[in-house]
Amino acid sequence: MSVIIQESQKVFLLQTKSNSYAFGIDDQGLVRHLYWGNRIDAVEDFEMPVLTEVSTNDPVFEITREEFPVYGSLRYKEHCLKVTFADSTREVVYDYVNYEVNKQEHYDELIINLKDRHYDLLIQLHYKVYESYDLMERFVVLQNSSGETIEVEKLHSGQFHIPYTGMNFTNVHGHWGAEQQRFVQKISYGKIVIENRRGISSHNHNPYFIIDRDATETSGDVYFGALRMSGNFSGVVEQTQYGETLVQMGLNSHDFKLDLKSGESFTSPAIICGYSSNGFGQMSHNLHSFANDFILRKGLRPVLYNSWEATGFEVTCTEQMKLARKAKEIGAELFVVDDGWFAERHGIDNGLGDWYVNEHKFPNGLEELVSEVKSLGLMFGIWVEPEMVNPKAKLYAEHPDWIYHFDTRESDTSRGQYVLDLTKDEVKQYIYNMLDNLLSDYDIDYIKWDANRPISQTNTQRDIWYRHIEAVYDIVKELKKKHPNVLFEACASGGGRIDYGILGIFDDFWTSDNTDAYDRLFIQDTYSYIYPIKAMRAWVTDCPNFLSNRIIPMKFRYHSAMMGTLGIGCNILKFTEEETALSKEMIEQYKEIREIVQEGDIYRLENSSSNDYFIYEYKKGEEGLIFVFLPQGKIGHSSVTVRLRGLSENTDYILKLEDREIKKSGGFLMNHGFDVCLTGDYASTVIKFKNA
Ligand code: DGJ
Repeated sequence: MSVIIQESQKVFLLQTKSNSYAFGIDDQGLVRHLYWGNRIDAVEDFEMPVLTEVSTNDPVFEITREEFPVYGSLRYKEHCLKVTFADSTREVVYDYVNYEVNKQEHYDELIINLKDRHYDLLIQLHYKVYESYDLMERFVVLQNSSGETIEVEKLHSGQFHIPYTGMNFTNVHGHWGAEQQRFVQKISYGKIVIENRRGISSHNHNPYFIIDRDATETSGDVYFGALRMSGNFSGVVEQTQYGETLVQMGLNSHDFKLDLKSGESFTSPAIICGYSSNGFGQMSHNLHSFANDFILRKGLRPVLYNSWEATGFEVTCTEQMKLARKAKEIGAELFVVDDGWFAERHGIDNGLGDWYVNEHKFPNGLEELVSEVKSLGLMFGIWVEPEMVNPKAKLYAEHPDWIYHFDTRESDTSRGQYVLDLTKDEVKQYIYNMLDNLLSDYDIDYIKWDANRPISQTNTQRDIWYRHIEAVYDIVKELKKKHPNVLFEACASGGGRIDYGILGIFDDFWTSDNTDAYDRLFIQDTYSYIYPIKAMRAWVTDCPNFLSNRIIPMKFRYHSAMMGTLGIGCNILKFTEEETALSKEMIEQYKEIREIVQEGDIYRLENSSSNDYFIYEYKKGEEGLIFVFLPQGKIGHSSVTVRLRGLSENTDYILKLEDREIKKSGGFLMNHGFDVCLTGDYASTVIKFKNA
């Protein structure tokens, strides 16, 4: 049983395999946090501290560790909920009502029911406990039965208390072509705010928090949470005056207002959260296993070929068929025709919204390409950007009011396009029908759904910042009911749409338009902290790289991309014989190892050398892989000692290095390790190992 209740003290203890989370209800009816950390079994040891005011300037609410602080009373700290009732009262005063426990197959759920003392507003705090994953999901449900509309101005899904100061906060910064740039910041007094205000998730910050006490990959306290939401989120981290660190996450209250009508309820996005006393590696494994088992579509992802970098907008049926034949020859399993196949789409300024096949590019229709791809035994995929319209498109001429706009203002274009107002039923229906027709008319296995600009000028509703993405989710969910075998890829100018909200609604995720194999080592490393490898699409592309202008040997490019779900984006028609042969070999190798890569545990291994080695281990069951990269060799420091992780001390393993095989015990490999020596620039190798 993962929910333990101490009735007399009203203490709730949530137990996972290694951890405990405890809170209780005090004599005032306040929901107060008690503990988050290593597992404690003795529920009777928890006591509710009696609160005494330190001074009139330090009111008890400021000191109290509240699970869900609401706006009102002598509270000046960050709150999770602020509403305005119909009579303009702007304070929530809740009473504890009762609790419920739901036992489900994979989790136990505790629900704490709170009710406003005057208005009929129910606040439900939900905690789903996934015992074997050491994870919990927290969210809130608001239910209005007051007879009048309640305006919700702020809703964060929960507050977490970490009983230390001087902690580190990790998230990402970045921009197009440079997503997932990890930063670590000391938490001190004052607030750290991360947020998105763009509607489309963005390349900047990502909706998660990692808070650690000087942790490493294998040691130290790590508290983490990932918000299941795309669109506008906000997160606040704060070290308080009272010796602890607080963190909250949820809907961004910037330009936000939700009108909760009487009879309606609203569920906040959940935060998947956990604690690891063994550093970042454990955190990643717990999240990845949970995502693979419960969120992502099952099955291995195919090796993809995408024609974007080869042809840009200059798509022709003849060339696409040639590319498909070559893609088949090197071993790809899925052929995706990217942007440029439809309407008058010859550049960024036209075509979006007019989803008919361009008859000059496809004189015999799209069917000719689809049949060719299918006859080769490949899956067929196609690019769309359904949320957008170009001003020159027929769709815009017919429905100028379908874009986000204010009647008295001109909407901005960005990348030459407007955003369609998906909160309008007719627009949502149009997009659903368009995609349903495409999927019904052609034998399509894969949709690449792109979104290349943020939202602006919205409409007059201030809840569009989450309703837009809800509409996207709805459309994809509906399409999947009718076309259950189709895989959906989320892309937003590269990696602008990855978060735990979209994970599972879509099946494949474009990590970044930056396909430079060296830059990708950093991007992929950071990505793997939170997101599962199956959700990390990585392509091999041509050199010099279009962004970095860097020239990297093809083997290194393959190895870098083989650490995710492999794709190829080169102009393969220009391949030399050697490049074709190497591609065949690498793709073949990837197919042999992809189950370990996509579904195994990843270990970001320590680089013990003064050379800049990048070392990653993947392990599933009795088999594993070690990727070693040396982007630039330095004089005199050429080898690195690789120490593996996650092995059994007393089991023997056989490692296949390029020039030799070695057999060693798990204990030896994890503690003593073995040496790998790469030389020159952009050197790389993949070492396979298995139980002897
Ligand atoms: C941005 C994406 O990230 C690219 O992969 C490509 O699909 C282009 N859009 C097409 O316009």
